[in-house]
Amino acid sequence: MKRIAVLASGRGSNFQAVIDAITVGKIPATCEALITDNPGAYAIERARKAGIPARVIDYRSFPTREAYERSLLAAMQEVDADLYVLAGYMRILGMDLVRAFAGKMVNIHPALLPSFTGLHAQRQAILHGVKVAGCTVHFVDENLDCGPIILQYCVPVLDDDDEDTLADRILEREHECYPEAIRLFCEDRLDVIGRRVRILP
Ligand code: GRF
Repeated sequence: MKRIAVLASGRGSNFQAVIDAITVGKIPATCEALITDNPGAYAIERARKAGIPARVIDYRSFPTREAYERSLLAAMQEVDADLYVLAGYMRILGMDLVRAFAGKMVNIHPALLPSFTGLHAQRQAILHGVKVAGCTVHFVDENLDCGPIILQYCVPVLDDDDEDTLADRILEREHECYPEAIRLFCEDRLDVIGRRVRILP
């Protein structure tokens, strides 16, 4: 059994999908902690219902970005997880932190990377006029939305889609893609060679 920790800033629907997959035995892991930067995050309520300890590290209560990062790093080290799961964690993580958890931290992004990095990926997809969109689970490296790709699931973009309808369609797939990628990690089935991630049988 692996030990995972989730970092989330908001509603936490991906966090919930991971909790549910653990509960039904799809992911061979225990969720040891939720860490959030937002005291108002609905993810905290989800953690409470699932009996997962939640730790709030509120960016605004630190004098500097460095102090915040140090506290976050310490909290993560304290959990000592095998895998750190970013699930809508809305703060860019500093280099020291990313390096400390290299190969042990994953993120989900609501676009088919490397297209549409950063904020409002679904809006970017609509504005660009792409016909296929989706989500990507990837390892976190020093560059934003850039690490080795583990899984990508796609959805069609329909003629009458707007940002919200597309985001809803992508989110449904996120809830399948993230638990699956985490399951593969927890089963030691990800072989990372440079930028390429091979899925072992
Ligand atoms: C998701 O769209 C995810 O891809 C992005 O942030 C959003 C988080 O949603 N990184 P939720 O909090 O998991 O519902």
